[in-house]
Amino acid sequence: MLQQANQSIVADSPFSLDDNAAYLQWCEQRQRYSQPALNDLQVSIKDPYQLSVDEKAAIVERCKSFNMAVYQLRDPGIKDKSLVHALGKQLSMKNLDANIRADEDSVSSLEVREQAGNKYIPYTNKALSWHTDGYYNPLEKQIFGIIMHCVRPAAEGGVNSLLNPENVYIRLRDENPAYLEALMHPEAMTIPDNVEAGKVIREAQSGPVFMIKPPVGSEAGRLHMRFSARKRNIIWRDTPDTLNAVDMINDLLAEEKNVFKVRLEAGQGIICNNVLHNRAAFSGSDAQKRLLYRARYYGAVAGAAAMNNE
Ligand SMILES: [Fe+2]
Repeated sequence: MLQQANQSIVADSPFSLDDNAAYLQWCEQRQRYSQPALNDLQVSIKDPYQLSVDEKAAIVERCKSFNMAVYQLRDPGIKDKSLVHALGKQLSMKNLDANIRADEDSVSSLEVREQAGNKYIPYTNKALSWHTDGYYNPLEKQIFGIIMHCVRPAAEGGVNSLLNPENVYIRLRDENPAYLEALMHPEAMTIPDNVEAGKVIREAQSGPVFMIKPPVGSEAGRLHMRFSARKRNIIWRDTPDTLNAVDMINDLLAEEKNVFKVRLEAGQGIICNNVLHNRAAFSGSDAQKRLLYRARYYGAVAGAAAMNNE
């Protein structure tokens, strides 16, 4: 269980607070504050159903370095939803998460739509604040990988900002390791019950913000972040280190120079290891209605695990 994967039982991770030498070595290897530009992340794809060896290697490489890649289909006319399934499969991103609003095939069609019951912001044209996906999921069902494919951009707006959680981890640890200790606490962040029409549809969920995957399996030692910048519906553990650390995260997210921004065009998509992201508000017409496919996985992009142990 991730819950038990605190720094004391993960010996070989640079994210263990007990091993500063491993941390410093890892920082040096990844050039500490590596901040990608679109050029660093972009991969051109000829056929999403049959990635070439080079295309696949390029995606995996970018996910190793930055936890994210931006792809561009050479033919934006390919837009059947099955392309998302195909990409995930080829990148060994298994186990799709079926969330409350996902379509039958577990891939969500993110578009403005009428909603009965609770209104979920992803299905409106409003801005979405910073978060990692599935932060409200049970700890054994955390989301480690995401594919987002743009079929149609909005007429205006809808820019996504992204930030690698490793960058946030480094800034916090360099500022004050006690911040990390606070954020790795099993009760650091609690999401209250989700209630719809008087019925609990999702139980309250407590857990750490930063987790290290246990020292077993192909993703041993990977860093995972569970976070939402929402002011409501998040209960932070009431200690000065926790609250100061959360303030610092929000300050880092608010600084433009720290984040990567992209406005996905038709045929473009993001493949990532559930990095922090947000979405700006957008507007459109019936003729230009924004549509994105989104798949969430319980596994990260193939090969991403290696980066933490190299
Ligand atoms: Fe998201």
